[in-house]
Amino acid sequence: MARKKIIAGNWKMNMTPSEAVTLIETLKPLVQNDEVDVVFCVPSIDIIPAVEATKGTNIVIGAQNMHYEEKGAFTGETSARMLVDAGVKYVIIGHSERREYFAVTDQTVNKSVLKAFEHGLIPIVCCGESLMQREQGITIGWVCQQIKIAFQNVPADQAKKAIIAYEPIWAIGTGKVATAEQAQEVCQALRHCISEIYDDATAEAIRIQYGGSVSADNAAELFAEPDIDGGLVGGASLKPDFGRIVNYNK
Ligand code: PGA
Repeated sequence: MARKKIIAGNWKMNMTPSEAVTLIETLKPLVQNDEVDVVFCVPSIDIIPAVEATKGTNIVIGAQNMHYEEKGAFTGETSARMLVDAGVKYVIIGHSERREYFAVTDQTVNKSVLKAFEHGLIPIVCCGESLMQREQGITIGWVCQQIKIAFQNVPADQAKKAIIAYEPIWAIGTGKVATAEQAQEVCQALRHCISEIYDDATAEAIRIQYGGSVSADNAAELFAEPDIDGGLVGGASLKPDFGRIVNYNK
């Protein structure tokens, strides 16, 4: 069975709650495409108005981060239960910016993935290499290791529903997109890694996104690759251009 494409916007730390509603109103008519799952990963404080503003549309709301503990003394954090209660369906786990600035590690990524599934949230698990790692030729080993740890103790029936986002760090926010061949090579290797951890059926089911300077101009070429099942889009998800990305196949 063909995998349905999933295209998610990662708004990062942009848009106040009222700006979020305005942006959603602008994008709503532009992001209709029955062949694609459309997700907006918004800042925590925008989640509730965003869920309200997207009711009755094809847009699903995601979060950008989540704590791996159930609840308690973790000032400033958001729990899985809070996200579910607010109407969130997806949560980005282990984005490279969180790994770099907020002490997220492969081990805490794993804990968060387990906690997300426990509460019925779908994790968008991020991996990706730095420019130095790419130049050293260790990209595939590196991202597979990140994914192996992220999925420790996750049963196959849950892993099947997960989303992996391959995001080369050197391509994020730089306008320097990976070529379709580079992105396909790594996404294919990640699928192979999933088949080693689980089995072929799980590898065939799991959806793997590419992220890093995805734009209306390069989306169609990237998403035509056999192992790229959509994108995680930063900068271009805040503009009407996101409609062209979602409708890459039209
Ligand atoms: P970008 O960000 O599209 O702005 O490069 C992608 C991401 O960090 O998810």
